[in-house]
Parts: sequence; C-alpha cells; structure tokens
Amino acid sequence: MKSQAGQCYNKLLSRLKPYLKSLSKSDQIVLLTRIENEYPAIFGHLSTLYGSRADFFYHLEEIFKSAIVTYKNRSDDLKKHDLKRSKNPNWHSSENVIGAVAYADLFADNINGLNKRIPYLKKLKINYFHLMPFFDCPDGENDGGYAVSDYRTVRKDLGSISDVEKLAKNLRKEDIALVADFVFNHTSNEHTWAKKALSGDKEFQDYYYMFPDRTIPDQYDATLREIFPDTRRGSFTWVDETKHWVWTTFHNYQWDLNYSNPDVFRAIASEMLFLANKGVEVLRLDAIAFTGKKMGTTSENQNDAHILVKALNGITNIAAPAVVFKSEAIVHPDFVNTYISEDECELSYNPLLMALMWEALATRDTKLLHLSMKSRFQIDDSTSWVNYVRSHDDIGWTFSDEDAAELGINGHDHRSFLNRFYSGEFPGSFSRGEAFQFNPDTDDMRICGMAASLTGLEKGVENDDPNECELSIKRMTLMYAVTMFIGGIPLIYLGDELALLNDYSYKQNDHKKSDSRWVHRVEADEKLLSKIDQIDDHRGRMFSNMVKLINIRTSNKQIGESPTHFHDTQSKHLFSFSRGDDDDKILFTGNFSEHSVAITPDLLIQNLGKKQVLTDFYTERLFSSMGEIPLEPYQFVLLKKNS
Ligand code: GLC
Ligand code: GLC
Repeated sequence: MKSQAGQCYNKLLSRLKPYLKSLSKSDQIVLLTRIENEYPAIFGHLSTLYGSRADFFYHLEEIFKSAIVTYKNRSDDLKKHDLKRSKNPNWHSSENVIGAVAYADLFADNINGLNKRIPYLKKLKINYFHLMPFFDCPDGENDGGYAVSDYRTVRKDLGSISDVEKLAKNLRKEDIALVADFVFNHTSNEHTWAKKALSGDKEFQDYYYMFPDRTIPDQYDATLREIFPDTRRGSFTWVDETKHWVWTTFHNYQWDLNYSNPDVFRAIASEMLFLANKGVEVLRLDAIAFTGKKMGTTSENQNDAHILVKALNGITNIAAPAVVFKSEAIVHPDFVNTYISEDECELSYNPLLMALMWEALATRDTKLLHLSMKSRFQIDDSTSWVNYVRSHDDIGWTFSDEDAAELGINGHDHRSFLNRFYSGEFPGSFSRGEAFQFNPDTDDMRICGMAASLTGLEKGVENDDPNECELSIKRMTLMYAVTMFIGGIPLIYLGDELALLNDYSYKQNDHKKSDSRWVHRVEADEKLLSKIDQIDDHRGRMFSNMVKLINIRTSNKQIGESPTHFHDTQSKHLFSFSRGDDDDKILFTGNFSEHSVAITPDLLIQNLGKKQVLTDFYTERLFSSMGEIPLEPYQFVLLKKNS
C-alpha cells in the first residue's frame, strides 16, 4: 500500500500543480507542506473507504482540489488565525477556556443580536461559544434545527450567512471561538439532495439509503437501536413519492447520508470547508456514532465512522488547520473515548461525567461516579473533554452496566430509578423533569429539564420553601464546580447561570409538543441579562456563584493541563480529585448529599502534606491538614496548601 500511495502521490501532485499556480510562492510552500504531511493518512483512509472503486483516483483528486480552493479563498484573517492556533494547538486545555452554548433566538433575537451579547459573554470569560443550529431547515418540525436543508443558508428569521461570518469575526477579535454543529449524519428531506432523490434522480437516491421494499430494512432493523421510539418504531420511513423506504435514524424527515458513496463524502467535505471559511472554528460532529452502517450490527460506532472523520480531519488540516472537531457520541462509555484523538476529534462531550453527577445527586452516593471517572476520565494530552451539566438534549443514563455491576448495581433497575427520581415520581424527589422517549419494549426512557428545575428550585419556588431553593442553588453550583475544575472545557448551558426554570409553553405549540426537550430550551430575558449583577434572589446568587467558579478556574494554572487524580474519601457522599503536583497541588472535594459530612485528615495529608495550613479558594477559609473539615449539605472545597 505504501509504495502505491507514493506513486499515486507524484501523479496527484502533477495534477494539482495547475491549481496552485495562482497562489503566492510562500502560500504554495505552506500548502504543499501541508499536503505532503497529510497525504499518507488521507490516502489510507479514503482507500479503505473507497479504494476498490474504479473511480477512486478521480475522487481523491477532487478532494484535494477542493482543499486547495478552500485555502485560496480563505481570508487573511483566518489564515493568521490558523497560524496562531498552530503555535498553540493545545489551546483548548488552558484554564482560561470557558465554554457556553445558546440558541440565537432564545439568547438574543437573531444572529446579529448576538453581537450585543458579547459583553455578557465576556463577563463569564467565555471564549468558546457554541451557537445552536442556525441553518435553513423545514418550517414546523425540524428537530430544533438538526434537520438541515442547506448548510450554506441561514434560517430566515435568524439572519444570513454573512451575519454568521461577521459574528465569527467579532467573536474572534475578542478571542472567542465560534462553535457550530456540523449535522453530517443526515439532511432534512427538504435538502436539494433529498429533493432530487424524491424526484426520482438515481444519482441522488444513492446519497441516502433507499430501498424498494422491506427486505433489507427488516434485516437492518433487527439489530438497530431505536433513538426516537415515540416518533416511529424501527429506523426506516416510507416515502410515498418514490415508493422507497429511507433510513431515518432520528425523525422521519431526517434522512441518513450514505457514506459508502464517495460522492456523499465529497459533497459533505465541501459543505464542511464552506463553514470553515465562514469562520466556524469548532465543528460539533452531530450524531457521529451513527455515520457508519453495517448489516448485522447496531450500525453505531462502526470503524467506517472513525475513518470518515479522520479523513475529514486531514482535509481541514490542509485547508483550515485552526478547525477542530468535537465529538457528539452519546453512547456506551467504552465507545465515547474511541472518537477522541488528535487525528479524529480533539474535543468530546463528556456524557458520562454529566450523567453520573446527576446519578450521584439522586442517590447521594458517589461510588459509581468515582469508579467510572477513575477508569475512564484519562484521555490523550492533545485532547480535551467538554464537561457539562445540561445541554439542549435529554439526559440519558449512559453509564456502563459492567461498572455498575462491580458495585452490585443493576443497570436496568438503576436507570428506572433515576427516571422515576428525575421525573419527580419517586417519593421525596426534589426534581421536576419530563420524560423523554419512553420505549415500552425496553422500558428505556430519558429525562428533560433545566438544571434549576431538576435540582429542586422549581419545587422550592412552588412550595415557597427558601430552604429547598437554597439547596437547589448549592446542587447546581456543586455540579458546575466539578465541570470547572476537573479538567477540560466547562460548558455552561446558558440560562443555568441564571437558574432559569423549565418552560412548559412548548406544550401549546403543535410543532414542539411531542418533544419534551423543548422544556429546557428557554428564553433569556433581556432585562435579566443586563441587570443580573444587581439582582438579589436565587438567580443573582447562581450568577455570582458561577462568576466566582470561573475566576477561581482562570487563576489556577494547574486546572489547565495537569492530570486529574481521583481519590477514595471514606465517605460515599464525597467526590474528590486533585490537580497539579507537589506545592502546586489543589484538592477538590464535594458533598453530593444533604447530610453534613467531614473530609478526613487522611485525604488531606495524603494530598497536601502533614501539618499544613490549607486555604479553600471558594470560601477563602483556612483549615489545618491535621483536622477534619466539615462539609455542609452540597458544599465543596477547593484546597491548596498555604505557601
Ligand atoms: C444530536 C442532537 C440532537 C438531535 C440529534 C439528531 O444528537 O444533539 O438534538 O436530535 O443529533 O440530529
Ligand atoms: C441518543 C443519541 C444522540 C442524540 C440523542 C437525542 O442518545 O445517541 O446522538 O442526541 O439520542 O436524544
């Protein structure tokens, strides 16, 4: 294969040379060096996917050409940015990186309006801003924008693609990276490709998985997981216009793309490069786990999905090297980590930490959280977790049943308990969540709700119970503290910093009422945003807690790149980890229960030494390492030895 790749390289270069001509000498050198570096890997990946096809070389050449054209069209400003990032490729592991995510129309009126929100983002020291899907999509139901009809056009009410470009530029000036979804597992049924397929165009029918009868769909369906069983059973949808069954992992109107077809790879690569040149710096690879399909398997986490992403990654390294990928693989923890590497996704959601913090809050027991983090948190130094408490999606209980079994926990029963707890059904639960996608065959279900509602604020407000309200703020602050200090990018689901509650108005909207995730997609009120520093209720308290956490994070270097060690605490209520070494070491310990629990001197001495005076960054109180440190309900401390 190697010598084949070499021979092919020389031929390819001679074909590419005419495209390089119009570039300056120095640009040519830059680009040729990148092509030379990336070529062996890209060739390897593409030949694994498409090498057996007679037209392989044609596709290979076209792909490299589009990378060259993208580079040619890339603005000087973005090229400078590429250079800046290449000098510091690990920028995402810095303690100074704080993430936030929002919908344009809920956080501002539209994309232009977001420019006015930059000062607010700066208050929270945000420099990674994920703007939820803003692309053209069907009117009515569109899965919150995840059914893309055109990757180059913005949904009319949100603005235009040049608004996105301007916003990206303004954000970049403030050192904020723009993050956008790259919804590449499927398009909407209104995308031009789908429309052509609908009109009977065979070339475009091959962009999707379309079958004339149930024979093949039945065979696939036998081993597939149902993602939205409320919507439809099985993973295929009948399309009457063309008399075909089409593969639709998610909703009927979201058609899965067929990556066994190299035309699809090329088409999607050029959409990706288009976004890169508009200034999107991080591409969140939506539903990455589903992109490779294989009969007789779950068609999740297939090898082809990895190869596909690695090939795309190689292409961005040539045309737009500042671009990094973030993996959205909400799958079994064994698989989540397989997407994370420098040549695949440098960033990844950490669904396990998210789910298990909620699990620990419900059980008041951190054993499963501790065990899972101890064995699964460590990832390569060149990559970072994106740690979150809530997102626009449901909470799925994605822990490993094998990990749970080690602790004598039955995964199925435990999930069912967690669902009952967070939907508020379980006696004594503080939570007000909504059920999502109950599957009667497997009993599976997920949970929706804003963090504030899930942690008890809604119940507290309803019952006029200040104590419950206070506990809720403490629970949220505790979880956000973990995301701030554990290592990786903390991602604030905007609205959480304001302790915003569930919004039930989606039930009155015909296009939303069947999807309870809308309960936690809530509007931030302009007045609240502008006056939040002066508001003296639970919202103001949550905001100031968040700011305090952020300030602690950004003033401690160890929170950036150092490894994380998890510690036994001798109490099932406490979760503890340390960062940094020796004199620099900091020790986090949080109480996931409403009981008062003490940190033992053992833990303190082991980590911070004998006879030391310790300071807690959060309360600024002093302690001795030789005595117990009592923690109130849901309290945490971040301790450092006094120098
Ligand atoms: C991702 C999104 C989710 C969407 C799904 C299908 O998981 O986060 O909101 O429903 O993909 O695109
Ligand atoms: C599943 C999928 C994930 C998707 C979610 C939507 O967990 O793995 O990709 O976002 O469902 O609910």
